[in-house]
Amino acid sequence: MNPATGFTAFFLLTLMLLAAVAATGLRARRRWHLTFVALSFGSLGVAIYYAKQLGQVYDLESAGRITAVHLTLAKVATFSFLLPVLSGIATVRNRANIVWHRRLAWSVLSMTVLSALTGVWMILAAKPF
Ligand code: HEM
Repeated sequence: MNPATGFTAFFLLTLMLLAAVAATGLRARRRWHLTFVALSFGSLGVAIYYAKQLGQVYDLESAGRITAVHLTLAKVATFSFLLPVLSGIATVRNRANIVWHRRLAWSVLSMTVLSALTGVWMILAAKPF
């Protein structure tokens, strides 16, 4: 699969799986919630693999400041997935922690959508090698 197709396919799959994570969390389907969390992390890993290949096809520096904005946002969003994981474990132990889990989960999901939008902007602005 070429990098552009691979990245687009797995990034869209990741977004759909994250929507399933949110839907199962809201319906308190804990087993499915955790299954979709694992699947979305796996899919995100494959999307990142293709994103790195895509970075070799495009001259990302030519896109200007949006490249630094996107790369920072994407790294912060990826690492911040640790927050809903930790607060999710805390929620399993004590349901009162759901307030934090909910806030952190929506913040990380919003950051993921913002990363996607800035990523598309960066690729549209970049020149292919
Ligand atoms: C990408 C990571 C995750 C996201 C985006 C996410 C999102 C959500 C959302 C939106 C809810 C619904 C909160 C509400 O009722 O307003 C929820 C509930 C919950 N999540 Fe997560 N979650 C994630 C990971 C995890 C993990 C790793 C665990 C456990 C190890 C976990 C355990 C739970 C539990 C126990 C609930 C409450 C279900 C209930 O109402 O009984 N979550 N999650």
